[in-house]
Amino acid sequence: MNDKETLMDDIVNLCKRRGFIFPSSEIYGGYNGFFDYGPLGVELKNNIKKAWWQDMVHRRDDIVGLDSTIIHHPMTWKASGHVDNFTDPLVDCRESKMRYRADQLFFAPVVVAGEKIGYVSVLEDGDMQEKAEEAARDLKRRLAKQGELAPIVLKDYTEAKPDEYALIPSPATGKPGSLTPPRAFNMMFQTYVGALRDETAIAYLRPETAQGIFINYKNIIDTGRVKIPFGIAQIGKAFRNEINPRNFIFRSREFEQMEIEYFISPKADWKKIHQEWIEYCMNWFDGIGIPKSRLSLYQHPKEKLAHYSKGTTDIMFEYPFGVQELQGIAARGNFDLTQHQTVSGKSMEYFDDREPNKDDRKYIPHVIEPSFGVDRIVLAVLTAAYAEEEVEGEKRVVLRLHPRLAPYKAAVFPLVKNKPELVERAENLYRRLKRRWNVFYDAAGAIGRRYRRQDEIGTPFGITVDFDTLEKDGKVTLRDRDSLQQIRITEDELVAYLSEKIDG
Ligand code: GAP
Repeated sequence: MNDKETLMDDIVNLCKRRGFIFPSSEIYGGYNGFFDYGPLGVELKNNIKKAWWQDMVHRRDDIVGLDSTIIHHPMTWKASGHVDNFTDPLVDCRESKMRYRADQLFFAPVVVAGEKIGYVSVLEDGDMQEKAEEAARDLKRRLAKQGELAPIVLKDYTEAKPDEYALIPSPATGKPGSLTPPRAFNMMFQTYVGALRDETAIAYLRPETAQGIFINYKNIIDTGRVKIPFGIAQIGKAFRNEINPRNFIFRSREFEQMEIEYFISPKADWKKIHQEWIEYCMNWFDGIGIPKSRLSLYQHPKEKLAHYSKGTTDIMFEYPFGVQELQGIAARGNFDLTQHQTVSGKSMEYFDDREPNKDDRKYIPHVIEPSFGVDRIVLAVLTAAYAEEEVEGEKRVVLRLHPRLAPYKAAVFPLVKNKPELVERAENLYRRLKRRWNVFYDAAGAIGRRYRRQDEIGTPFGITVDFDTLEKDGKVTLRDRDSLQQIRITEDELVAYLSEKIDG
């Protein structure tokens, strides 16, 4: 693990420098909350999606796939509750015009020798407690108060009492009196469909892929391949007008989700199935290079559950900016299907011919929802993989990406570039490997430097064609990015080796 303070900056810089991720619309100064994936980033992201689809859909018998539209009939969002409830608490600073999410703005009264002398406020952050304490000491100094400073107990702004709003300083100005009470702000992006621009033409960019699954549930049941318990999986873009996008791709306004709705009988033990999904997802993360030792669980308290949820557990990851949600696993009961049945008038009932009790055979299924954020996985994978170390007296940056996820699976190098037979042999090997995998060819520069360039972008295997290849054994040198071990191997052995390491 890399616990450097600059880790986040290092990752963001590497992403920019090597073409993983760019701020969107950068030539126009960027666009807050939007990011573009460059040539290496798109490979990494696609490999994550491919691994997920393979493991969740192809390698299981009980999950089928779907690709629904991004814009659904607007009644979808009325029925799902998003039009009325998909809100975040918004606070405005009247003076600076800054906007904050109330649950990310923390405040505390400052009490000296038993007397309340004012308030401090900080934005949610790994070291917000220290920052608040520093601000409190500063306030005490400025007001020349003597005596003991009581412990600073932070609460978020949604917990502020109405008479406290005017006393809490704005994080932008440091002065009290300009923050508004929190109000509900709907996060769905609106658009218009068709030529008219009136109320009747309003539509929404989906804020989750899940509803596309619920509104296709009946189609999938009717086409007959599935029997409860079964899941429907979908990967796709989701859009949220986040009040405060931050931490690079962690919280953005356009992102990607990989979601499964796993339909179960209302009589099934949902808590057990929910728990099984939690363990399954933790193991999946571990298997793609996000170690379990850096994951933890957070169970949402009942009063903070989303409007659709009976219980939600988040899988949390140790990001450089603190432990934060990587994935949510919710038990949604039969909320969504019941809502769509009521609003559409179409039956969402399932006929369970395997249910022994005849009276219980018709029901609306319940659902467990593992919801993965692709971009948060990209960031977790990069965080877990990034390392700086010294090799042979030289600093190297290395991304220890799992071979399944690495943008390039291998790099082929002719030892020198001015020996035509060597170059030809290396190019032939490169073309052979490229038929199966994304492989890089590099003939320029000292071999050590070529290795370093590949280490930095996570290429797990370096293959060098040298004079011995031509003149002695026909073998190539295979260098392992992580162990730095080098072995001599024939081309056929190499293909078998890579196949096992990359494709599993
Ligand atoms: N269908 C349920 C649902 O959407 P959620 O907890 O709001 O639940 C699920 O989102 C996952 O989507 C999160 O765990 C996270 O990985 C990802 N996610 C949510 N908002 C995001 C954002 N603004 N930027 C990036 N990823 C986000």
